[in-house]
Amino acid sequence: MRSTSRSGAPAIEAFNLTKIYGSGNTEVVAMKDVSLTVARGEVVALLGPSGAGKSTLLTAIGLINPPTAGRIAIGGQPVMEADRALVDLRAFRRRHLGFVFQKANLIPFLTAAENVRVAMEINDLPARTARHRATELLGYLGVADRAHHLPNALSGGQQQRVAVARALANEPSLILADEPTAALDGHRGRQVMELFRQVAHERGAGVVVVTHDHRALDVFDRIYEMEDGQLRPSHSGTGASQAQSRSARRAFPSESNRLD
Ligand SMILES: Nc1ncnc2c1ncn2[C@@H]1O[C@H](COP(=O)(O)OP(=O)(O)O)[C@@H](O)[C@H]1O
Ligand SMILES: [Mg+2]
Repeated sequence: MRSTSRSGAPAIEAFNLTKIYGSGNTEVVAMKDVSLTVARGEVVALLGPSGAGKSTLLTAIGLINPPTAGRIAIGGQPVMEADRALVDLRAFRRRHLGFVFQKANLIPFLTAAENVRVAMEINDLPARTARHRATELLGYLGVADRAHHLPNALSGGQQQRVAVARALANEPSLILADEPTAALDGHRGRQVMELFRQVAHERGAGVVVVTHDHRALDVFDRIYEMEDGQLRPSHSGTGASQAQSRSARRAFPSESNRLD
């Protein structure tokens, strides 16, 4: 284990993140002085109009799109200082982060189980372990009976469950989802949101979900709104602050989820 990792550390700590795209008269300040801490075991929603900076924030803390200024630590490990990487970002992302996007983006010629296994194989997990874990995860997400089907034989909701299974494959401490239910109807969208809550609470991951879907906001422990690159707590929440302290106490349900 790295000496810098601390099991009690939040999934994500981001301090004073600013992102400026372009320069001169094409300059866009997409994110201004944004700070966000999410505990493990906590599921947080990020709302806001198109162009508000939600994806910019998500891809910054996902180590895909470096901020112009600010600091990021994941699982207690400092990873970014402005646009300077403090770790091998690709390796860190592969081991500690899980992503879910609007479209499931499954590899079309691999079965559901193979799509989940690929995520582990790139981390050099033994094939046997990867097979077991893929089966377990597809069962956990309620699509065990689709394990050996190709993506085009699955419904949109089932594909998104497989994508969540893939995001969980490496037992990430942080899961980031950008409008994961935008392509689903209300009922299936809600089921996927409930899965994120379950994943956070049962598996001890911190989960941040960008969403326009106001119908499923009650599943979240905390809700933020972004506007013009700035982040503030939302008042459309539902007893969120109580849920927050509850889930913070529940963080780290198992040693096996530790960052190491
Ligand atoms: N690669 C880029 N180059 C220039 N401007 C960008 C780029 N990506 C996003 N932007 C701008 O930054 C702002 C925030 O975008 P984004 O984070 O995608 O918002 P959201 O996800 O909330 O819709 C918008 O004004 C957008 O046009
Ligand atoms: Mg976006």
